[in-house]
Amino acid sequence: MDLSNYIRTINDFPKPGIVFKDITPLLNSPEATSACLEQLLELLGDRKIDKVVGIESRGFFFATLLAHKLQAGFIPIRKPGKLPHKIIRRSYALEYGDDHIEMHEDAIEKGDLILLHDDVLATGGTAKAACELIEHLGGVIVQCNFLMELEFLNGRDKIAGYDVQSVLKF
Ligand code: PRP
Ligand code: MG
Repeated sequence: MDLSNYIRTINDFPKPGIVFKDITPLLNSPEATSACLEQLLELLGDRKIDKVVGIESRGFFFATLLAHKLQAGFIPIRKPGKLPHKIIRRSYALEYGDDHIEMHEDAIEKGDLILLHDDVLATGGTAKAACELIEHLGGVIVQCNFLMELEFLNGRDKIAGYDVQSVLKF
């Protein structure tokens, strides 16, 4: 199954000049969702994972599926002001200005084996900030995996040194 057939390209969304990759057709197909999940699991291989960290919001879909399949815990990284308990935060650069992501400070135990998942690796800013949060709490990042990677933005350079994998490359 060619999963790229389930990714819809929308030009000039959410802003002029941005080419948006829409994963809702993939999510709307149980066959494509299963195939995508299997491919993500294959990229990981048989390595042990204690917790899957997913990045709000589009990273949550497959991160929870992966956690369930791996019988691992699921940890959300959220946008500012959403998590109710004690948090740690990291800022990351946007095209203009910057933003924050947050995680509960008790979500990870020192030495936990972590799979980080998000839907898209673009500039890598979000993933890098997520890796910093995970390692600040003592998590050991086994792999960073993505549904897709926008190769022309060179996001993997920002998270060089980790095992970075993606199902689709554009
Ligand atoms: C998008 C995408 C990734 C991130 C990648 O999320 O889902 O999380 O951008 O960009 P980067 O590699 O340049 O940091 P977005 O912030 O649009 O929010 P959403 O997932 O809630 O839609
Ligand atoms: Mg996102």
